[in-house]
Amino acid sequence: MPKPVVLQVGALPEWDETPLAEVFDLVRHIVATGETADFATVGPHIRGIATRGTLGADSALIAACPNLEIVAVYGVGFDAVDLDACRARGIRVTNTPDVLTGDVADFGVAMMLAHARGLASGEAWVRNGNWAAKGVHPLQRRVQGKRAGILGLGRIGRAVARRLAAFDMTVSYSDLSPQPDTPGWRFVPDPVGLAADVDFLVLTLSASEATRGIVGRDVLAALGPEGMLVNISRASVVDEDALIAALSDGTLGAAALDVFEGEPNLDPRFLDLPNVLLQPHQASGTVETRRDMGRLMRANLTAHFAGEPLPTPVL
Ligand code: 8YV
Repeated sequence: MPKPVVLQVGALPEWDETPLAEVFDLVRHIVATGETADFATVGPHIRGIATRGTLGADSALIAACPNLEIVAVYGVGFDAVDLDACRARGIRVTNTPDVLTGDVADFGVAMMLAHARGLASGEAWVRNGNWAAKGVHPLQRRVQGKRAGILGLGRIGRAVARRLAAFDMTVSYSDLSPQPDTPGWRFVPDPVGLAADVDFLVLTLSASEATRGIVGRDVLAALGPEGMLVNISRASVVDEDALIAALSDGTLGAAALDVFEGEPNLDPRFLDLPNVLLQPHQASGTVETRRDMGRLMRANLTAHFAGEPLPTPVL
């Protein structure tokens, strides 16, 4: 039996690529390095796509694979996959939930603590000799005991909330409706009301057309000059122009961001802002989690081609 042809979209660690290539006839499509697939030749043979969360599979890619059966996403977010195109052709879609929850939540909390307490500027203060030359580093802002808001109380939002509660923070959240099992966490129905009531607003909602730009000028103004926005979701949930404007004119105090429109080519205006912590979309980026994500993506592909139930289906 010939191996099913699977298109690999984006680079993967060797520990994922090798086992994928053992089971599938792997065709690499790495746009960033120019190593792209010749769809005129290979397109009709492609039965599966293994793609990174941020790259997904758009309508053009799906159309270039007329016999596609499954899109397996290496990531929990599947907003970059054209779900309508998949639905229309009965193409299955899977993602990698749960295995990354703890690390993504850790990273959101780490960004919040690091930025509020000035870890990056403190490090630079030591390395560039300012400590000896100028004395103490400027005082920073407290985190413990403050008010945290979580926008989107899914798996990752809950994991962030549990961690922040351990920092003696009050936890409020917004979601479509009040959620069960929220020990002492307060439901606030709308994002503006939530932002007005907290010092730190952590974005953990999933990206979709419904949530596009949900964090706009009004939410940022409500969070205010003492507030900090932490984004470990997707850039699309924030109006990025409004965010840059609010950070520039002091309407918003600070932001810690792991995700950007057009990443990795982020808006250069971010680079000139001193009140923003910039991270290269690495909240799930531990060896342990990425190994688990790769295993789960492969398990979904393998199950599909064996005619077995998909471990973590989206569609
Ligand atoms: C990326 C993520 O998928 O899980 C998600 O939704 O954004 C990340 O885990 C990962 O960087 C691979 O692209």
